[in-house]
Amino acid sequence: MNTKSLQAACLVLAVLLICPTLTSGQELKAVQLLEPQMDTGRPLMQVLKDRRSSRAFSTGELPKQVLSNMLWAAFGINRPDSGKRTAPSAMNWQEIDIYVATVYGLYLYDAKAHALKPILAEDIRALTGRQPFVQDAPVNLVYVADFSRMGKSKVDDKVFYSAAGTGFISQNVYLYCASEGLATVVRGLVDRPALVKVMRLRPDQRVILAQSVGYPKK
Ligand SMILES: Cc1cc2nc3c(=O)[nH]c(=O)nc-3n(C[C@H](O)[C@H](O)[C@H](O)COP(=O)(O)O)c2cc1C
Repeated sequence: MNTKSLQAACLVLAVLLICPTLTSGQELKAVQLLEPQMDTGRPLMQVLKDRRSSRAFSTGELPKQVLSNMLWAAFGINRPDSGKRTAPSAMNWQEIDIYVATVYGLYLYDAKAHALKPILAEDIRALTGRQPFVQDAPVNLVYVADFSRMGKSKVDDKVFYSAAGTGFISQNVYLYCASEGLATVVRGLVDRPALVKVMRLRPDQRVILAQSVGYPKK
């Protein structure tokens, strides 16, 4: 092997080590999240005092434990016997799915398995909002309502309930972020048709809001 091919081989190896969720065929792998830590976090009243929207993100990634804790806080299962979650939902429909856009690709949070299911091996962070900071944030959550889980109620009711349900989840993320010193902002300024297309959503799935999460810019 000459020096050039040795350098190329080293580069490929380095990329694979740095990006463990991507394999050579741009295949995105499932990620088993870590057990959420129940003994962390600041007192609720202090967290409420610090809750705010921030729009300046460092590009630094969230450690896996932080991502695991944050997604569980958002809408994880807190009562395994009934499968009920950290946020309420009308009729316990649990219609909101959390998609997680990262530099490696797009995942779907699977609360039952507490895992990330691979959806798309493409960095779509910039498409999750119309504001420039969204591409810096290491994680952009996209809240998608699955109307097919909401029984036979009228579309207006589905829109209302899924917007309310997203609000609870988003506030859980806000509180977790305030507790952990993370920056976050929930966003309605979203190019929904573009997202529906790139995320390959069905007509009965609706993009409700997005939320950027990361460390504050220094
Ligand atoms: C439904 C909703 C949509 C929002 N959309 C955006 C948005 O697209 N972009 C943005 O920068 N902030 C957005 N925000 C954040 C608000 O601007 C922010 O909550 C408000 O200015 C109050 O600031 P605070 O969260 O720090 O209290 C949104 C908030 C809500 C509740």
